[in-house]
Amino acid sequence: MLSQLKPFSFDASILQHHSHIPPQFMWPEEEKPCPEPPPSLDVPPIDLGGFLSGDPEAISNATRLVDQACRKHGFFLIVNHGIDMNLIEEAHKGTNFYFGMPLEEKERALRKPGDHCGYASSFTNRFSSKLPWKETLSFRYSNEGHLSSVVEQYFWDVMGANYASFGRICQKYCEAMNTLCLNVMEILGISLRVGATYFREFFEGNDSIMRLNYYPPCRKPDLALGTGPHCDPTSLTILHQDDVGGLEVYVDEKWHSITPNPQAFVVNIGDTFMALSNGIYKGCLHRAVVNSATPRKSLAFFLCPRMDKIVRPPKQLVSEGNPRIYPDFTWPALLEFTQKHYRSDMKTLESFV
Ligand code: SIN
Ligand code: FE2
Repeated sequence: MLSQLKPFSFDASILQHHSHIPPQFMWPEEEKPCPEPPPSLDVPPIDLGGFLSGDPEAISNATRLVDQACRKHGFFLIVNHGIDMNLIEEAHKGTNFYFGMPLEEKERALRKPGDHCGYASSFTNRFSSKLPWKETLSFRYSNEGHLSSVVEQYFWDVMGANYASFGRICQKYCEAMNTLCLNVMEILGISLRVGATYFREFFEGNDSIMRLNYYPPCRKPDLALGTGPHCDPTSLTILHQDDVGGLEVYVDEKWHSITPNPQAFVVNIGDTFMALSNGIYKGCLHRAVVNSATPRKSLAFFLCPRMDKIVRPPKQLVSEGNPRIYPDFTWPALLEFTQKHYRSDMKTLESFV
């Protein structure tokens, strides 16, 4: 039961009372956050309700907006998504609860070197430079039958009985995200003119990742970054940010913010889908800034192909005028490359091929 354990202030709170931050958290001049919040990015809101009801006008509207956004930067919003707002709220509450626990408690899920799941904190392992001002908890989700309770099981095995209800919430949240991703894949199939079922079927079995991000307040938000600039190596990201704000996207050589809207999910194309679309749809650099007053949370679901799936664009997207840009690869190979060669200023896919 969530209520049986008493939340404790996170360790980063020690840093909050200092007027300076450790040098590992100070980013180089050219990567520092903008002195003033940048202008909002014009991201189209896609009305999923209209799309799912089969209304031809809603479908053509949604696919046109998605097509424009994905050819340019790969970011759009989903509204009227049908996901229970109580489930979203419960997931945020559970996230607060987990990150509010004492460090020893959170470290029961400590991420092992080379693994992409578990608890990771920049505040306890400050050996490298350009550290992000955040803590995260990541876990695997799969819709393959034999893995259908993998999230719930993870919380049970790693964190124990006191986290069973949070584990159930995360399991349900991931299932909802999986459904949403497959619906978005239909829109992408139509907008890329390969048919509504093509990408939906490709991701029908998937091996995805969920990450809970927690950004404590930072006394020097002008020097630090919550998440450094990066492109997502995954296929599709569905993010729910709380109402604090901090997500920024690099478009037309400028940073833009994505204004929080608790009713909406932020969706973005990752490198793997960029390759599946033969480079027609783009992913782009984004980052998260921090602030001095309020902790910020975001819930990120990363759709990833099943491990053995070959990432290769459909033949309709390859022609003499538009030859293959990326060779065939599997998701685990790209993930391994990203983990070994990650640099915040690098577009991973371009150096992978
Ligand atoms: C990320 O892109 O990894 C995090 C974005 C956010 O927290 O808004
Ligand atoms: Fe990201």
